[in-house]
Parts: sequence; C-alpha cells; structure tokens
Amino acid sequence: MVKKNASVFISGEGSNLRSLIKNSRNYTFPVKISLIVTDNKNAIGIKYAKKYSIPYLIFKNSLISEKIILNEHLKRKISIICLAGFMKILSRNFIANFKKKIVNIHPSILPKYKGLNTYKRVLKNKEKFTGSTVHYVNEKLDSGKLILSKKFFIEPDDNVETLTKKTKEIEHILFSKSLIKIFN
Ligand code: GAR
Repeated sequence: MVKKNASVFISGEGSNLRSLIKNSRNYTFPVKISLIVTDNKNAIGIKYAKKYSIPYLIFKNSLISEKIILNEHLKRKISIICLAGFMKILSRNFIANFKKKIVNIHPSILPKYKGLNTYKRVLKNKEKFTGSTVHYVNEKLDSGKLILSKKFFIEPDDNVETLTKKTKEIEHILFSKSLIKIFN
C-alpha cells in the first residue's frame, strides 16, 4: 500500500501524536507521519520526533516561518496536516496556501463548545455527555466540515482532570479512525 505523507502539529504533551505514530506503523494504515511541527520549542511531545526519528520544525510567529513550513510540506509531498493539540491559530494565508487537507481534533462534540476551556464550560453547564470531534479546518475556528465524533457520558464525580483523561483516551482511537475514513 502506498501511504500518504502526513504532518502532525502539536503544542504540548503529544499523546495524540504518539498514537498516530504507533498506528501509522501498521501496514494497512493509510498515512505515514513524515513531519512534526510545533509552535512550542518546549513541547513535551517533541520527544516522539526524536524517539521515532521523524524530522520536526518550530513554527514561529512570522511570515517567513510560515513560508518555510509551507515549503517543507511541498518538498516532503505532505497530503494532510493533522492538528493534534496545536494551540496556535493558523493564518488565513497559511490555510489558503496549503492546497491539501488540514484536519483538527477538538475536545468537544462540535458544533458545541468551540474554542478553549471546553471541559470547564461543559461541567459548568451540567452537560450529560461530552467527547471529541475530528473536523476539516477552514478559516473559522473549529467550524469546518465534521469527519467523526465520539461521545461519552459524564459521571457525577468527573472534573476537568478526569474529563481530559477520558477524552484523550477516545481521541487516540478517533483520530486514526478519521484518517482511515478520509483515505479509504
Ligand atoms: C487534545 O485533547 C485535543 O483535543 C486538544 O488538546 C489536547 C492535546 O493533547 N485540542 C484543543 O484543545 C484544540 N483546540 P495531546 O497533546 O496529549 O495530544
């Protein structure tokens, strides 16, 4: 099987990156993680770039940096960008100039709870369930076409910490499933 090249953008822990790398090593998985990008040079997740010998780039706040990142994507024939806990908002220019797919994983059942602090808001509103969504990226925050989502019920003793943990557990399956859905 000829795999598509993918890049993964991260800002923090990188647990979604880790699960994507692990699943991508399966022969039947449609993508290969060929590049990692971070806007945070101290992101814990960079350790996976080193561990699995995947090149990585730092995305700085400048037009020049944007150009360098886009050029690297062209050079490496990247077919899809996976935003996995990437907390920088991509510029209109970047989205328009990367002509291939960009997908994002967001810790809520979209279209509800776009933006930051989703768990806090979900708990405050006493929602019965929450979850995660993978969607295409467009120029509006967390608003592109939905690909897959998965929800779970909130227990009475759940808090931000437990919801984060439970959400990440489902995300580690959901992101890979979404890539399979896109390419198969
Ligand atoms: C994930 O839960 C992801 O949904 C969320 O950040 C976490 C990253 O975890 N993304 C956003 O909040 C984007 N607005 P990870 O670094 O362990 O993969």
